[in-house]
Amino acid sequence: MPVITNIDDLKRLHKKRTPKMFYDYCESGAWTEQTFRENVTDFDKIRLRQRIAVDMEGRTTATQMIGQDVSMPVALAPVGLTGMQRADGEIKAAKAAEKFGVPFTLSTMSICSIEEVDKHTTKPFWFQLYVMRDQDFLEGIIQRAKDAKVSALVLTLDLQILGQRHKDLKNGLSVPLRPTLPNIANLATKWQWGLEMLATKNKSFGNIVGHAKGVSNMGSLFTWTA
Ligand SMILES: Cc1cc2nc3c(=O)[nH]c(=O)nc-3n(C[C@H](O)[C@H](O)[C@H](O)COP(=O)(O)O)c2cc1C
Repeated sequence: MPVITNIDDLKRLHKKRTPKMFYDYCESGAWTEQTFRENVTDFDKIRLRQRIAVDMEGRTTATQMIGQDVSMPVALAPVGLTGMQRADGEIKAAKAAEKFGVPFTLSTMSICSIEEVDKHTTKPFWFQLYVMRDQDFLEGIIQRAKDAKVSALVLTLDLQILGQRHKDLKNGLSVPLRPTLPNIANLATKWQWGLEMLATKNKSFGNIVGHAKGVSNMGSLFTWTA
């Protein structure tokens, strides 16, 4: 088991274990990737101030977020396609968040469905919703979230249009992965990923395929999303 001490260690493992197109999906931004870079450089400017000679008894990071007890004020943000980073990725992340005592947010564009995550967790999670034009789909998915006892609906307001993501275009990002020659060559080095993927039934967009009218596969999903 490798010793993981910081986020860069995790990034190296992620790169080693995950097919290039899914690693690049996480590790890149849209257009010139300016915001993607500034997400790091802006935080680099922040310094935590040291306080000395203070009472340290009973210090804690525990607090509440929207009325819910949390071990620290951090929630896992919604990340689409997590179940392609590793088989059952959303279930694994939700279970880890639950164990640690912080909220997990399931993306509309997750691979594991609301029901699948609900089945494998014991506490309510949050659900992120892209407000689509398909009213029937919206009503259906909100009901499914209620049925799963989701405790917060997280509305994404900043996706008026899709940003052009150059790496995704160049990699031909697709779910499931298309068996092209470069993909097969890359997959040969990610056999553990492949074996786990073969073993799970969660391989497509679980919240959408089979739920939105007329969406039964990836081709019809793209038409519907557009
Ligand atoms: C790879 C990736 C996938 C994401 N997928 C979604 C998504 O499906 N839905 C959503 O609302 N936000 C999505 N986001 C946005 C994040 O949830 C989050 O809002 C963003 O990363 C900014 O938060 P941060 O500054 O804590 O990283 C995604 C971000 C990344 C990096």
